[in-house]
Amino acid sequence: VDLETCLAKRRDTRHFTPDPVPAAVLQKALQAAHQAPSVGLSEPWRFIQVSSPAVKRQILANFQECRDDAEEQLSAEKDRQNLHRSLKLEAITTAPVGLAVFCEQPRDDQYILGTTTARETLQWSVACAIQNLWLSLTAQGYGLGWVSILDLSWLARTLAAPDHWYPMGYLCIGKPATDYAGQPMLEREKWGRRSQQPYVLVR
Ligand SMILES: Cc1cc2nc3c(=O)[nH]c(=O)nc-3n(C[C@H](O)[C@H](O)[C@H](O)COP(=O)(O)O)c2cc1C
Repeated sequence: VDLETCLAKRRDTRHFTPDPVPAAVLQKALQAAHQAPSVGLSEPWRFIQVSSPAVKRQILANFQECRDDAEEQLSAEKDRQNLHRSLKLEAITTAPVGLAVFCEQPRDDQYILGTTTARETLQWSVACAIQNLWLSLTAQGYGLGWVSILDLSWLARTLAAPDHWYPMGYLCIGKPATDYAGQPMLEREKWGRRSQQPYVLVR
């Protein structure tokens, strides 16, 4: 697939078939992630692959708690709250591969070129890596769903991540069971609408 097609076809996927993800597919996607740009060539992305079904069930339970908390914020808008409740926002126990992603934070006295004015540039670099991973999986016929509705510091502790690894999210990876008719699922489910043009101001 060419780049434009790949960009258009990439979806946040929450519905997967039970087909396993071949090791070569995942390896290729991780290599793509590793080719991402990074501030000061810091390459701060770190991954923990979660294979234990018991741990995945714990992560799902944490998601459900966080989601319930989020839905309380919609208590004044019952229709919206019900629609929110109906949305499938994760595939934690059904996706064949689970990948927690972290950003390695440097020690306070460590100089990293480009980070002095904005420390967040390290996390932005990890987001670039996740996008590469996402596009590589799409190009290979696989899909990814980014789960951020989690107590991320709980996730880091549960996975025994090193202290200086800042958690960025949990990725569900597998063979998509649907392409959501080529639209973001949230658009398809009438949660929101994609705008057609980027918003650009000229000064
Ligand atoms: C940083 C980030 C966090 C996200 N967290 C979630 C999430 O917790 N659950 C979910 O269902 N989708 C999540 N998404 C997916 C977005 O909802 C999705 O990208 C958006 O609706 C556009 O759809 P598309 O990716 O299929 O184009 C997340 C996306 C990003 C970039």
